[in-house]
Amino acid sequence: MCSIWILLVYLNLDAVTATQKLQKHFEWKILDFVYPSESAKLKAIFTGRLKPENALPVGIEIWQEKMFVTVPRWREGIPSTLNYVPLHATVKDPPLIPYPDMESNELGDCRNGLSTVYRIHVDECDRLWVLDTGTFGIEKTTQNPCPYAVNVFDLRTDRRIRRYEFRPEDTNSRTFIANIAVEVGRTCDDAYAYFSDELGYGLVVYSYADNKSWRFEHSYFMPDPLKGDFTINGRNFQWGEEGIFGMSLSPARKNGFRILYFSPLASEREFAVSTEILRNSSRVEDSYHDFYHLEERGPNGHTTARVMTANGVQFFNLIDRNAIGCWNTRNSYEPKNIAVVDEDVEQLIFPCDVKVDRDNLLWVMSDKMPDFLLGGLDYNDTNFRVFFAPVDVMIKDTVCETKKAVVYPNPLQFGYDPLVHNYPNDIRYISRPFFSPYL
Ligand SMILES: *[C@@H]1O[C@H](CO)[C@@H](O)[C@H](O)[C@H]1NC(C)=O
Ligand SMILES: *[C@@H]1O[C@H](CO)[C@@H](O)[C@H](O)[C@H]1NC(C)=O
Ligand SMILES: *[C@@H]1O[C@H](CO)[C@@H](O)[C@H](O)[C@H]1NC(C)=O
Repeated sequence: MCSIWILLVYLNLDAVTATQKLQKHFEWKILDFVYPSESAKLKAIFTGRLKPENALPVGIEIWQEKMFVTVPRWREGIPSTLNYVPLHATVKDPPLIPYPDMESNELGDCRNGLSTVYRIHVDECDRLWVLDTGTFGIEKTTQNPCPYAVNVFDLRTDRRIRRYEFRPEDTNSRTFIANIAVEVGRTCDDAYAYFSDELGYGLVVYSYADNKSWRFEHSYFMPDPLKGDFTINGRNFQWGEEGIFGMSLSPARKNGFRILYFSPLASEREFAVSTEILRNSSRVEDSYHDFYHLEERGPNGHTTARVMTANGVQFFNLIDRNAIGCWNTRNSYEPKNIAVVDEDVEQLIFPCDVKVDRDNLLWVMSDKMPDFLLGGLDYNDTNFRVFFAPVDVMIKDTVCETKKAVVYPNPLQFGYDPLVHNYPNDIRYISRPFFSPYL
C-alpha cells in the first residue's frame, strides 16, 4: 500500500516536471565542429584552435533543411561562431558546420570574418541577419578586436550581401548586444533591424534601404533594481545591470507598422513601442511618450528570448522556471493571461532561444548557461538540447489559444474595422488600460 502510494507520487512528479509537448530533436553532451579533414582537426586541437569544452550554443534559427547554431567566443578554441547542422541529421548530436564557411568565421578579421554572434534571424526574403559583436571574451575580460557590424547573408546563394558597421554613436563603452528583431515591409529592400543594447541601455535601428543606423535611449531600457537576483538550477547569482534584452515584433498592423515588445532582463515587466516611431530617425530625441509600459508578467518572470507568431502569440523563455511561456496579444498583458506551455527541471535548464519556423513549429534550445559560466559543465551529461512542437499544440487548452469570438471594450472608439484591423495590436489599445491616465 505504502509503496504504491510512493509510486503514484513519483509518477505524478515525473509528469509535472518532464516536457509534455516539446519533442526532443537534438541533444549534445559537447559540441563538435566539422573540419575539411581529420588531420586539419587534429592540428586545430594540437594548436588550441579547437577546444570543444569551451563551446556553448546560445542561438538557433531554422531555414529549410538547416538549423543554424551560434556559439559565442567567450573563451578560446571556438573555430566558428556561426554554424548550422542539417535539420534532419541522422544522429542526435551532429557536429556543427561553419556557415558559410570557416574562413568567414575568422576571429578578428573585421572585413571578412565574424568574431562573435549571438541571436540571428531569418526573414521572409531568405536572408539571414547576423550581428557580429566583434568581441572575444565575456564580461570584464571582453576584448573588441572588431566593431559591431550587421551582416546579411543570402541563404539561397550562401553569400554575404551586406556588411554595415555601426557608427561610433550607436554604441558606448558598456554596449553589449545579443538580441535582434527584423521587420520587412512591402519589399525586401524595405527592411529594418532592431538591436537591443543590454548593458549600454539603447535600441539601435538599422535601415536596409538607406544603409544607415540610429540609436534610441529611454529609461524603459533600464533594469528594475529589485529584479536583479536570479536562481537557476540551484545557483544563485545577480544580473542586476542587465537592461533591454528580448524583443519580438507583432504582425503588421493596418497602418503597415508593427509593435516591438521588449523587456529588460533584470525586470518582469513588458514594454512596447510602435515601429512607426523607431523607423523615424528624427524621433530619436523626441519620443519619450511613445514608449509604453504594460504590466509585470509575475514572479520568476525573467526572460531573455522571445518570438511572435503570425497570429500574434508571443512565446518566451522563463529562465528561472526552466520553462517556456506564452501570451496572446489579443489579451491584456497580465499574469492571468500568461501561461507556461511547457517546463522541465532537467531538460529545460536555461532555455536560451525560441524560434518559430515557416511551418509554424516552435523550436527551443536549452544550454545550462549558468552552470557553464559559474561552475563548468559535466561533459558526461547531456548539456545542450533542441526541442520542437507545433504552435497549435503548445497553446492548446491554455489562455493563449486563439478563440474565435473575442470582444474588446469600445472598439469603435479607435476606428476598429474587424475585417482588416488587428485591433488589439493597436498601440492605443495596449496603452490605454496600463499607461498613463493623462494620455
Ligand atoms: C553600407 O555601409 C557600409 C558602411 O558601414 C559600406 O561599407 C557599404 O558599402 C554600404 N553598402 C551599401 C549597399 O551601400
Ligand atoms: C518623422 O518624424 C518627424 C518629427 O515628428 C515628422 O515630422 C515626420 O513626418 C516623420 N516622418 C515620417 C516619414 O513619418
Ligand atoms: C566521466 O565519466 C568517467 C567514467 O565514469 C569518469 O572517469 C570521468 O571523470 C567523468 N568525466 C567528467 C568530466 O566528469
